[in-house]
Amino acid sequence: MLRRTLLVLFLCTLSEYTLAQNADEWWRDTFVYQVYPRSFKDGNGDGVGDLNGITSKLEHLADLGISALWLSPIYTSPMVDFGYDIANFTNIDSIFGTLDDFSRLVAKAKTLKLKVVLDFVPNHSSDKHAWFPKSVQKIKPYDEYYIWKDAKMVNGTRKPPNNWLSAFQGSAWTWNDQRKQYYLHQFAAGQPDLNYRSTALQEEMKNVLRFWTNRGVDGIRIDTIPNLIEDSRFLDEPKIPNTGLPDTDPGTLQHIYTADQDETYDILKSWRQVLDSSNGTRKIILTEAWTSLSLTMKYYNYGSNVPFNFMFINQLNNQSSPLDFKRIIDRYLNSIPQGQQPNWVVGNHDSHRAGSRYGEQRADQIPMIAAVLPGVGVLYNGDEIGMIDRPLSWAETVDPAGCNAGPGRYNVTSRDPERTPFQWDSTTSAGFSTNPKTWLPVHPNYKTLNLAAQKSSPTSHYGITKQLVALKKDPIIRTGSTQLIVAGENVLGIVRRLDQSRTIALLINFANKPITIDASAWLNIPTSMSVLVASVGSKIAPGIRVNTAALNLPAAASVILK
Ligand SMILES: *[C@@H]1O[C@H](CO)[C@@H](O)[C@H](O)[C@H]1NC(C)=O
Ligand SMILES: *[C@@H]1O[C@H](CO)[C@@H](O)[C@H](O)[C@H]1NC(C)=O
Ligand SMILES: *[C@@H]1O[C@H](CO)[C@@H](O)[C@H](O)[C@H]1NC(C)=O
Ligand SMILES: *[C@@H]1O[C@H](CO)[C@@H](O)[C@H](O)[C@H]1NC(C)=O
Ligand SMILES: *[C@@H]1O[C@H](CO)[C@@H](O)[C@H](O)[C@H]1NC(C)=O
Ligand SMILES: *[C@@H]1O[C@H](CO)[C@@H](O)[C@H](O)[C@H]1NC(C)=O
Repeated sequence: MLRRTLLVLFLCTLSEYTLAQNADEWWRDTFVYQVYPRSFKDGNGDGVGDLNGITSKLEHLADLGISALWLSPIYTSPMVDFGYDIANFTNIDSIFGTLDDFSRLVAKAKTLKLKVVLDFVPNHSSDKHAWFPKSVQKIKPYDEYYIWKDAKMVNGTRKPPNNWLSAFQGSAWTWNDQRKQYYLHQFAAGQPDLNYRSTALQEEMKNVLRFWTNRGVDGIRIDTIPNLIEDSRFLDEPKIPNTGLPDTDPGTLQHIYTADQDETYDILKSWRQVLDSSNGTRKIILTEAWTSLSLTMKYYNYGSNVPFNFMFINQLNNQSSPLDFKRIIDRYLNSIPQGQQPNWVVGNHDSHRAGSRYGEQRADQIPMIAAVLPGVGVLYNGDEIGMIDRPLSWAETVDPAGCNAGPGRYNVTSRDPERTPFQWDSTTSAGFSTNPKTWLPVHPNYKTLNLAAQKSSPTSHYGITKQLVALKKDPIIRTGSTQLIVAGENVLGIVRRLDQSRTIALLINFANKPITIDASAWLNIPTSMSVLVASVGSKIAPGIRVNTAALNLPAAASVILK
């Protein structure tokens, strides 16, 4: 009897807790926006973006209507990997400004009702971090902050302890002649991996989180979380036969010992607890894991609110059929744990821009899908104006992922093309900087493709994205039913219904020719609906009524009807 009462009490508490948490989850059915600080806005004319630049442009983000901006790393860094190599987790790099600049950014964001999310790069530090030389000298407790292993001697020659490869090509191990050991770096040699089997190191990283929540940060985005911890046996990873890749390429190995280890999830949970015990609004955790569907889902259970869904980047492309889209989206939606939210990543600083992946005619399509489906949408700066990649020559390439691949292969691996400066207007350097020379060249299309040219037009990429961001907050997106329908060979329909009274339908023409379909029959929608928003180039005016029984969809057009 006692046991039973306790159980009932426990269940009540649990469900109330869940409800309370949900009410606090300010990110539900909103768009989150990634700012790549080097390329967003240069406030001091040195050609590199900075915090004061971002602060000066927060009105743009408020106008767009996003809930939170997530800043890629702004911490002290020698910039071997443009800020993903951190020399001090609790300070701002002078390229970006100061802690005071950061406080001003947060304060202004609060007045504009914008949340601020920081990138948390827990998996390695820079070799310029004060911990690293202390680790080299074996000073306690720093001796264990990094992953050190003895050399393997082969016929009298010193070799790395195993065959693990860096994400940037070549061995993941670098010899340190002072400590007479190799250290592990899954990225650049200047980014030694931190050792999460050291409890002192774990506590250091929790203090980093406390430092930033005390400064008003509303959450974190965790970089490359699957690689947080490695198997402690340090065995060789199996080779994948016939990849056609050079032996130095990490794509030649099955990453069974360097990724997705069980302990990773426990560490995530400990960070969730730190954030939950902080003051103020509930904190969001977004996690970056390029992994399987089931392992992606697992992150929800350990405190991630947004385990990034990269399907529009790594599973679907401009060759995919409407049926491919339906199959992959349905499978994902059906896997979301009870009470959790799906999410849809449109673009990021590591992937070619949506308008380049799908073609300029289809630049609005992925943001439209992300808006109409339930859950969080994630935009990358520039997506809202339809920016596209700028191809770069070998001489212009600065990304280590490109440089390390060499002149023959750099453009397969370089992430520079999607990182060029934000195109604000048609003045010098697209209004990004007063300096005509910027850290990466501006895309030459900025004279016509820029925010100023689009701002007041409801049929521009910007006008469309602004409507999509507003649509996301409509109750039909949160609570309506969802149905994906393939109509004929070339059309995908996504229908959202709330009660009997309201319907929203997104129709996408995958063909590069106009199509006329009876959408009312295929999708079971009213015959007369009005256009909420239509993709750039479709020449369909918002607000007009259409006869869905004979709906004309121009080539590659997407349209949302209500
Ligand atoms: C990091 O920066 C902080 C300022 O926020 C400073 O107090 C601290 O000493 C620095 N830590 C290291 C390890 O350099
Ligand atoms: C070591 O040297 C011997 C004799 O030269 C050679 O047969 C063998 O293949 C070498 N082993 C490795 C792993 O290189
Ligand atoms: C950091 O990220 C890289 C790339 O995903 C990964 O291989 C590595 O294991 C990570 N480092 C640590 C210490 O987890
Ligand atoms: C929460 O705020 C109170 C009052 O400002 C402060 O004393 C306390 O240390 C804060 N707690 C955390 C975890 O930040
Ligand atoms: C489709 O994608 C491929 C590979 O990303 C690209 O080369 C091609 O230009 C794209 N097609 C269009 C119409 O943009
Ligand atoms: C990369 O450059 C090579 C030669 O410079 C070219 O053949 C290839 O099409 C380029 N690939 C991409 C993805 O731009």
